[in-house]
Amino acid sequence: PDRYAVAGNPVAHSQSPFIHTSFAEQTGQALVYERLLCPLDAFEPTLRAFAAAGARGCNVTVPFKFEAFALARRHSPRAELAGAVNTLRFDEHGWWGDNTDGLGLARDIERNAGRPMAGQRVLLLGAGGASAGVLGSLIACRPAALTLANRSLDKAEALVHSHHSWAQAHGVSLSAATLADCEAHAQGGFDLLINGTSASLAGAGVPVQGQVLRPGALAVDMMYGPAAQGFLDWARAQGAEGRDGLGMLVEQAAEAFCLWRGVRPETAAVLQALRERLN
Ligand code: ATR
Repeated sequence: PDRYAVAGNPVAHSQSPFIHTSFAEQTGQALVYERLLCPLDAFEPTLRAFAAAGARGCNVTVPFKFEAFALARRHSPRAELAGAVNTLRFDEHGWWGDNTDGLGLARDIERNAGRPMAGQRVLLLGAGGASAGVLGSLIACRPAALTLANRSLDKAEALVHSHHSWAQAHGVSLSAATLADCEAHAQGGFDLLINGTSASLAGAGVPVQGQVLRPGALAVDMMYGPAAQGFLDWARAQGAEGRDGLGMLVEQAAEAFCLWRGVRPETAAVLQALRERLN
């Protein structure tokens, strides 16, 4: 069977092997999916050895998504826009780099949560790797307005700048703000808030005022498990619908699977199995 893996550091708790093995069983694809722990200073040699052993591709997770971008000879437009790669296919004539995180997040919001983004007002918190990876795909959903809010304004401005033409082409009003003044962009409240900060890992609360949300808004954290609990509690306290990043995880995996195998797996049952497994 063809070999794939999730490459990162750490990878011990990655759910990707479970997800891709479930997809393979469901679609009748013969593949094995492993965990590839890469030393922080040896991402490239570890991947090259894996590819040389006959592997066909890998997913890339923290902290190697930018290095993976540099290793790919060719990129999908969405990876180009993000400057980061979460999926590599080891093509013979050079590695192909893609980024399926944003599409995964958008699918989870629009299909699984039933909240189409077209015409909506969206607030994305954070301007690090997580937000950079998804911004282009969020814009492609054509919200009316998208505010990117970050603790330090310069990083939000840089991302807004690099996505300026893309936003214009999609008719999206894209702006940068600090966390402190994104309330001023709310105009009656955002319909959708997405948390791409790592504030919870730093033990901090949700770094924005609850008043930024309109009643009944959807608030999505890109994290899942215990790291997302504080955010989900906060969302409920604001009268919003809270959602963790597990759906995004399964949907980005489905897109990667499709890129490798040319078959699109069903995600609903796998997401449900994953929730039961983690409870
Ligand atoms: P990742 O790849 O997970 O996005 P990152 O690139 O280090 O990690 O980015 C972390 C993001 O979380 C940044 O937007 C960071 O804000 P700054 O750019 O101002 O540093 C944000 N962040 C981390 N801790 C935070 C906190 N306690 N409050 C608010 N924002 C925080």
